Amino acid sequence: MSNKKFRGTDVLLHEKRVFEPKEDVLNRSLVKNWDEEIEKGKDIEKYWAEKAEQFVWFKKWNKILDESNKPFYQWFTGGKINLTYNAVDRWIETGKRNSLAIIYINERGEEIKLTFYELYTHVNKMANALKNLGVVKGDVVSIYMPMCIESIISMLACAKIGAIHNVVYSGLSVGSFVERMNDSKSKILIAADGTYRRGKIIDLKNIVDEAILRCPSIQSVVVINHVKESYELAELSGIELLYDRLVEGESSYCEPVWLNSEDPLFILYTSGSVGEPKGVIHTTAGYMVGVATTLKYNFDIHDDDLWWCTGDIGWITGHSYSVYGPLLLGTTSIIYEGGPDFPDPGIWWKIIEKYGVTKFYTSPTAIRHLMRFGERYAKLYDLSSLRILGTVGETLNPEAWMWFYRNIGNKNCPIIDTWWQTENGMHLIAPTPTISLKPGSVAKPFPGIEADIFDDDGNSLPPGQGGHLVIKKPWPAMFRTLLNNDERFLDTYWNDFPECVFKSGDLARKDEDGYFWIQGRSDDILKVAGHRIGSSEVESALVSHPAISEASVIGKKDPVKGEVIKAFVILKGGYKFDSKLIEELKEHVGHELGPVAVIGEITSVDNLPKTRSGKIMRRILRAKDTGEELGDTSTLDM
Ligand code: PRX
Repeated sequence: MSNKKFRGTDVLLHEKRVFEPKEDVLNRSLVKNWDEEIEKGKDIEKYWAEKAEQFVWFKKWNKILDESNKPFYQWFTGGKINLTYNAVDRWIETGKRNSLAIIYINERGEEIKLTFYELYTHVNKMANALKNLGVVKGDVVSIYMPMCIESIISMLACAKIGAIHNVVYSGLSVGSFVERMNDSKSKILIAADGTYRRGKIIDLKNIVDEAILRCPSIQSVVVINHVKESYELAELSGIELLYDRLVEGESSYCEPVWLNSEDPLFILYTSGSVGEPKGVIHTTAGYMVGVATTLKYNFDIHDDDLWWCTGDIGWITGHSYSVYGPLLLGTTSIIYEGGPDFPDPGIWWKIIEKYGVTKFYTSPTAIRHLMRFGERYAKLYDLSSLRILGTVGETLNPEAWMWFYRNIGNKNCPIIDTWWQTENGMHLIAPTPTISLKPGSVAKPFPGIEADIFDDDGNSLPPGQGGHLVIKKPWPAMFRTLLNNDERFLDTYWNDFPECVFKSGDLARKDEDGYFWIQGRSDDILKVAGHRIGSSEVESALVSHPAISEASVIGKKDPVKGEVIKAFVILKGGYKFDSKLIEELKEHVGHELGPVAVIGEITSVDNLPKTRSGKIMRRILRAKDTGEELGDTSTLDM
């Protein structure tokens, strides 16, 4: 544990708005009384076993939760299951056989629709092809592809035969890509030749060609002909094979490999603020149960829903809620290859109108970005098909919440702000549509999740005091370890508090109603004149000023106060950054948060350093400000 003691953060943001569930939302909802569900979740084993019963098991588990080697928890041990069978094959026997599993769309307006049956045959062909390439259970297959049909087919094909997929975000540089393939000792790489981004074709094939020269474990590369018209054989190196030719003639049936519940499903790298990226390991059965259950209840999924999660498959949101979650529930979903503002900032709303999307899950960064352009784009489209909206990844500041609620949801759609992490696999704290909503709060832990706020010494803090957000009981979709690094797994997440309490690395507080409010990463804490302040509270205050669409704050050393707040802001269109606005912003923050939150300096910027998944990287702002080393920048969106 660090020797910098802190009792807790000072709570400054006083957001008081509450939105009660509407009658029609209550009427439709799968669970009418969420408190009862939370009560049921107190018996975690019984709760999760009941959810696990809803899947097809080749052999049922002997033990629901094995705690004999904490914190290396195991779930549903003794069971045998196949995730792809549950996500795809099982629907072939039902009325969903010919209903749509995926609607793929790209920024060029092209569209591919796949039914569950079509997806099933594609996955089987690919699974057979992988087997022919010598892939067996436990082998690692890296996937370097944008959002497209084949990337999903590849993930499912791996899961069908027990290969462990390692999806590397297709925007990562060659060095980061090589590092992730070598660390995971990948045997096969499946890669697309390119992707579409803002009207241009981005060549991925040249990155792949360079990367494989530095990855000795790679035996074959399957190239997806995604952007190029066609390939001549001479254009491929000796270990490269074209996907279309590879799957041609393969049988459209593939017997699933029945995996042990705890067999690894995938590795996904996440970057820490220091050190090498961490290879987070998720296993099969618990992940499946956790992801499907949280999606079903937090977004109240029904058979007639059209789901759209904008999370790229290169991140956990894409794994859990673009690919596995919706398929496990037999839901149709949209897979979109493109950004939120190309060809114009109305593109997402246009897609929602065209297809009649009912549930839409995205990131606060995207919302704040779209807020910059005002509501006129949203007004061009009929968004009345929407029933529920959701976000993940960062604090949805109250003003961004209100913008989303009013302009996209037309005050009819609950906003489900979900808190979770790559390591968690599934939502841990989130509202459900039938409870009261408070803008800026992630509401309550999901049934079966025991969350708390600790001070440095592991004492539970009372409502109203900020501190470490911890999880006190295991959950099924939890990561099992970090690849090749149990020690880092223990040190980073488990050793700071006794009795195997999971330390999330985030700061948060609870209010009197048991609602959680995330205050930011503990690495990003501000310490001003003896007060400890979470970065998101100050950012929320800045974003609540009409001139500001995005803001990020860091602590800057000050000889008198120890630290003062330095703010970086992005202005909305039509505002001018001058001394008058600076004074107004300082006053506004003082008014919102009280005299403690003194802003020392405000700078106007066009962009903020973000990860490619859209998270603001405050440590980059700090390092740039002080001229220090930038540290791990593999996920920085340059
Ligand atoms: O700081 C929290 C923030 O994102 C971190 C996890 O990032 P990652 O592993 O990339 O996963 C993101 C997608 C699950 C958390 O430690 N975070 C995530 N959700 C929220 C959030 N911060 C505030 N509110 C959220 N809803």
